[in-house]
Amino acid sequence: MFRIGIVGGTGYVGSEILRLLLLHPQAEVTMVTSRQTAGEYVFNVHPNLRGITELKFVPLSIAEIQNNCDLVFTATPHGGSMNLVPRLLETGIKVIDMSADFRLKEPGAYDKWYGWTHTNPELLKEVAYGLPELHVKR
Ligand SMILES: NC(=O)c1ccc[n+]([C@@H]2O[C@H](COP(=O)([O-])OP(=O)(O)OC[C@H]3O[C@@H](n4cnc5c(N)ncnc54)[C@H](OP(=O)(O)O)[C@@H]3O)[C@@H](O)[C@H]2O)c1
Repeated sequence: MFRIGIVGGTGYVGSEILRLLLLHPQAEVTMVTSRQTAGEYVFNVHPNLRGITELKFVPLSIAEIQNNCDLVFTATPHGGSMNLVPRLLETGIKVIDMSADFRLKEPGAYDKWYGWTHTNPELLKEVAYGLPELHVKR
């Protein structure tokens, strides 16, 4: 069983990841973050999850994620993951980032397409683009 955290569980992407993983037999969602609704029951924000989870949203804490998760999804807006993901990786847990912050390999492409400069360009060499269809062995 993988212990999984979701950063940004009130958003469109985070809430879909949450719904899918709550129903997954090999995943245990141990924490879901939201700065604005921390302390609220998840089912108050996502009524479709009433009866499925008793989790509450928690504030973002790297230490809490490290203690409670094997893997974390970051479903934060573009530009928000760029500084967060390196801090999470430093704890040794695996990270799946749903934003575009590590999607492009060429650092200069962020200036061109997104209008901001990447602050952790060295990480771009290491990340794997997680589109399963690209990595299927035939
Ligand atoms: N929407 C799509 O179809 C789609 C598809 C693929 C990928 N994506 C990417 O997935 C990411 C999330 O998209 P979305 O549409 O779900 O966004 P969204 O609806 O704006 O949700 C963002 C979530 O992140 C949290 N958040 C915002 N700023 C944060 C910060 N600085 N630190 C920690 N948490 C923060 C928000 O909750 P709080 O403010 O309460 O913390 C919220 O739960 C984006 O990067 C997007 O480009 C989106």
